[in-house]
This record gives sequence, C-alpha cells and structure tokens, in this order.
Amino acid sequence: MSQTTLSNLLHETRRFDPPADLAASANLKADAYAAADADRLGFWAAQAERITWDTPFTEVLDWSNPPFAKWFVGGKLNAAYNCLDRHVEAGNGDRVAYYFEGEPGDTRTITYSQLKDEVCQAANALIELGVKAGDRIAIYLPMIPETVVAMLACARLGAPHTVVFGGFSAAALRDRIIDCQAEIVITADGGNRKGKPSALKPAVDEAVKECPDVRNVLVVKRTGQDVDWTDGRDLWWDDVLGKQSTEHTPEAFDAEHPLYVMYTSGTTGKPKGILHTTGGYLVGTSYTHWSVFDIKPETDVYWTAADIGWVTGHSYIVYGPLANGTTSIMYEGTPDTPHPGRWWEIVEKYKATILYCAPTAIRTFMKVGAEIPAKNDLTSLRLIGSVGEPINPEAYVWYRDTIGGGKTPVVDTWWQTETGMIMISPLPGVTSGKPGSAMNALPGVVADVVDDAGESVPNGSGGYLVLKEPWPAMLRTIWGDDDRYVDTYWSRFKGVYFAGDGAKKDEDGDLWVLGRVDDVMNVSGHRLSTTEIESALVSHPKVAEAAVVGASDVTTGQAVVAFVILRASADGGGDVADDLRRHVSSQIGAIARPRSILVVSELPKTRSGKIMRRLLRDVAEDREVGDVSTLADDSVMGAITEGMQPAR
Ligand code: WTA
Repeated sequence: MSQTTLSNLLHETRRFDPPADLAASANLKADAYAAADADRLGFWAAQAERITWDTPFTEVLDWSNPPFAKWFVGGKLNAAYNCLDRHVEAGNGDRVAYYFEGEPGDTRTITYSQLKDEVCQAANALIELGVKAGDRIAIYLPMIPETVVAMLACARLGAPHTVVFGGFSAAALRDRIIDCQAEIVITADGGNRKGKPSALKPAVDEAVKECPDVRNVLVVKRTGQDVDWTDGRDLWWDDVLGKQSTEHTPEAFDAEHPLYVMYTSGTTGKPKGILHTTGGYLVGTSYTHWSVFDIKPETDVYWTAADIGWVTGHSYIVYGPLANGTTSIMYEGTPDTPHPGRWWEIVEKYKATILYCAPTAIRTFMKVGAEIPAKNDLTSLRLIGSVGEPINPEAYVWYRDTIGGGKTPVVDTWWQTETGMIMISPLPGVTSGKPGSAMNALPGVVADVVDDAGESVPNGSGGYLVLKEPWPAMLRTIWGDDDRYVDTYWSRFKGVYFAGDGAKKDEDGDLWVLGRVDDVMNVSGHRLSTTEIESALVSHPKVAEAAVVGASDVTTGQAVVAFVILRASADGGGDVADDLRRHVSSQIGAIARPRSILVVSELPKTRSGKIMRRLLRDVAEDREVGDVSTLADDSVMGAITEGMQPAR
C-alpha cells in the first residue's frame, strides 16, 4: 500500500454507530474500559469467573520473571470440562454445539451432550493407546466435527495438540511432528474441497516415514477414498472409538499446563511453535468471544468461517464458543462450491446471527457481485466481523451494506497466533465504527504505537504496534526455544511485546493496523515467511539464489512474487515456473505457491549482503524503484528491471 493511499485511508470520515437495541443489551458496556484501567488484574480476575475452576487460583498474574508469564497461579481446571460437561450439568445438554455442513451437502447436528460423549470416547481411546498428560498429539484433519472431538479429547487428557492445517505438505507436517515430538497422529482419508475428495492420508504416510516417535496413526473415514495401510500402526478412528465408554472423569490440570502448540511463520525459515496454556487461554478466548461478538448463547447462531487449522479456528470455532456454550456453524468446504452463493445459503439455512471471516473472502465476494448474496435472506445477521489482515474501507462498507443489510456493526479484530485472543477491536454495543480501523484495545488490553526509540507516538503518527502489559491468552514461549521467544517478541523494545506490525494512531487516537514490518507476508490472511519460501526455492536444483516479496494484490492482500537466479547448468526454458511452483507446494503447501516467478541475473544486496526486498517489492508492484543508496552496487536495479523475464 503506498503512503498516499494510506493517508487517504486515514482521513476516512464515515462513522457507523451501534444499533440502539444492540447498544442497550450489549454484554460489555463503555464503563468496562474505565473499570479495566482502574484495576487491570482485578478486571481479569472477574473475567476468570467465566470459567469453572476445580481449584481456585491464588494470584491473578505472576510477572516476576518477564517475559515468562504465569496467569491464575495455583488454579486447576480441565479445558474440555469447561467446554462441555459443565454445560450438560447445567441442563443445556440438548443445545446444539455445531451445525455441521459438509461440502457435498451432508449435514450433522451435534448437541453438547453428544459432543461430550464422543470426546469421552476419544479420550478413552487415546488412553488405550498409551497417551498420558503431557504427550503431544498431531492432528491433520479436514473441517469436520471429529477435529473438535480430537482436540478436546487431547485437552481432556492434558495432552497438548498440534493441529496442522490440511493444506500443508507432507514435509511441513513432518517438521512440525518432529519439532514437538508428537507420538500419535490423527488424520482422515481425506476431506472435500472444491467439489472433490482431497487426500490427507498419503501426506501423513510420507511424513511419518521420518518420524520414528509416531506409534499410531488414527484415521477418520470421511471421503471413503482408498488409503495405504500400515498394519499395527494405522487404526480406523471408528473402530477404536466405537468400543469405548462414553464416561470419562476429567482430571484438573494446572492453569499453566500446556494446551496446544500452533506453528506459525516467523522471519527465519523455521516455523515457530507457539505455546498456549490452559487457564489464561480459556479466560481470554471466552471473554473476547463474549464481548466482541456480544454472544447470547441461548439465541445466537455463530459462524466463524475459517479453518480450525489456524488460530482463528482454535480460539473462535472451538475453545471460545464452546466455553461460552454457543451454537456454531461449521462448514467443511470452499465458499464457491458447488455455487458462488454457498455461504449465503448456509447463513439463511441456519439463520446465522454472527459471521466472522477474512477480508480476502469479502473482497472475493465483492468481485463476484452483490447479486449473489442478494439471492438469500441474510436478515438474521446482527453482527459481522473480520480478521487476519487489514480490511480496506471499501470492503468494510460493502460487507456492512451487502451482507449486513446496512445495519450490523462490523468488528475489525486485530490479533495473532501469539496473542491467542482478540486484542484490538471495536465493541459492537459501544464503538462508533470507522471503516478500515480496528479502533481500540479491548478493556484489559494495553496496546500502543511507538517509534524506533520505543516512545509512544502522538495522534496522527505511525510506528510499531506493541502490547504494553501481559494478557491471559498470551503465548508462553516458543516450543523448545525460550531464547527465540525473548528475541522475537521482547527484545526490540524494552519490556513490551513487539507484534511485528506497523500501525498508526489517527487524529482521534484510534488504531489502524497497516501490516507486517518484518519478512512475513500475509496472503489471503495466511502468514507466510519470505525466508521459508526462499529456502524452498533454493532447495530446487535449478535455483542458485532466490528472493521473495509480498506484493499488493487486490484479492489476496499480498501475493508471493519470487525473483530467482537460475544455476548456469539450468536452461531457462521449459517450465521452470511450473517446476518451482510445484516444488514450493511440496515443500510448504499450496498456499505458499508464488503468483509470479521472475528470472533475474542479480539480486539487490546491501554491503553486508542482505537482500533489499523493499526494492524488489517496488519492481513487483510496478513502482518506481526507491532509494538505492545502500546497495553494494547501485547499477544492479537497472540490470534487474531490464533483463528480467517471467519464467515460463
Ligand atoms: C495480521 C490471525 C490488520 C497482522 C488471527 C498480524 C491484521 C497477523 C488483523 C497475524 C486486522 C490480523 N487488521 N492486520 N484486523 N488481524 N492481522 O497469526 O499482520 O495468522 O500480525 O493470526 O495478521 O496472523 P495470524
């Protein structure tokens, strides 16, 4: 995004006040800000009452060894009990937990008591397979109810799960299994995507060849497609679960017991295993789900249209909604299968009241046209939300008008895998929304924008987004790498958390998140590391050197553009681009596939040898190339733009 577009954005004058009825009955009112400011830890202690503790905590926060936080010290709880059993005990067992809609049109309605029974069976099955508290379990599944069952069964046993998005390759899955030393993998034959079965089991077979610690692979039958089978290791989910009791007594774990590890891209090639623990994470996700989406569990039908394989799914399809006893929709497939109005058909069918999705989806719907959603009755929607990347004002207004009928608040929520919970967002019953701005830190959260020296910037200025106080759902460390945790997040500015995003405060002091300031890209709301894609490219025999940048893209936000220098031995013809795209898919996953691959003879580097991606971004975005004074050889850019050719 250029500076001019940015400053235009920041002069946005449209305001959307909360609807009067929503404001009157909102879960969180304006006084929450002052209450949290006056006594932040007291505020969090009050939020912790949302959770059922087996043993009460004795201290809200232990920050005596920063940045290693301990929240709700001494408290004990079981996450699955909080998501299921307590609702059943309270007489809400017949409430629907999920309306599941498969891509081919099959459906399942699952109540809280049914889900509890299945989770207990799965927990008993895992016990039979030797799983104990603390063991890690990898989950590589499509968007089906069994994914939730598997996660909660792990949580029930205190066995941290690591869910790997089904779009990741065998190599990416293998690296994650090895990094967290998972001993069991739960997968499926496949899932349904874009109108056809898409296999998962072959990737697991390939991955676990190099994972000697994996004892068993549990396989859910979803598509019925053929699978290879390793006797003794592979087990059908239904066979193992079917014979188990639906009774299982949950054990209470320490508030700081690990709940899950979720891998995310960092600025180096190696993905980071973000560790979330039990008590604080549940408090944070249930509080934010309740306040930002104004959840009324008796009446709302809530839909996060994201994949459980990302943090958005963990926090707002699984843990937050279930902790709050919410009825959710879960959809397996792609938005345009079998027709471009599939989402809107689902909203009408289940009378969804709240929809939460990514700007990239909204921009795609805009392109397809307002006549598609107009075919369905969307009047049940009372609140809509956005996450994953900056939402441009046009997309915000289109979303509000076309999907929200011109009446629903739009909550533009900023957060990260690391934060575990929404941190910056309008409050739907309080805030006058501004298209494009995520507005303010939630009550209990302290965010700021600082300059290079770490000083808070005045209104009307930009800088780096930081979080100044710890929060309950914060990551506790990077799995197995405390030093990297400290370096990545807590070293750039003394004593505060550096998010890696650029942001501005407008004249009113409201926050605009502008995107990453590090070597991380955001493609369709998915975080990708430039270095990771570069390593994948140079691992191909034809490539000598590679530089990757995220170039602006009207639909996906950013797109991967790769500049490659081919080895002298490689001929530039044939399908280099095809080869390289396929190679990146197999190394990381299809989401990382470059949109364009440009063959160049040199790359712009500083005297210390660092690739100047900023200049390549200028080329990729068709702009005049910026300041080249720090280049080791300032004629390089001319050589690149003249000699550059798209790889065929
Ligand atoms: C970006 C997804 C602008 C940001 C929950 C962040 C956003 C990264 C917003 C985290 C938003 C997320 N406005 N940018 N509302 N929400 N981002 O870990 O760059 O997949 O650092 O978590 O997405 O991506 P992650």
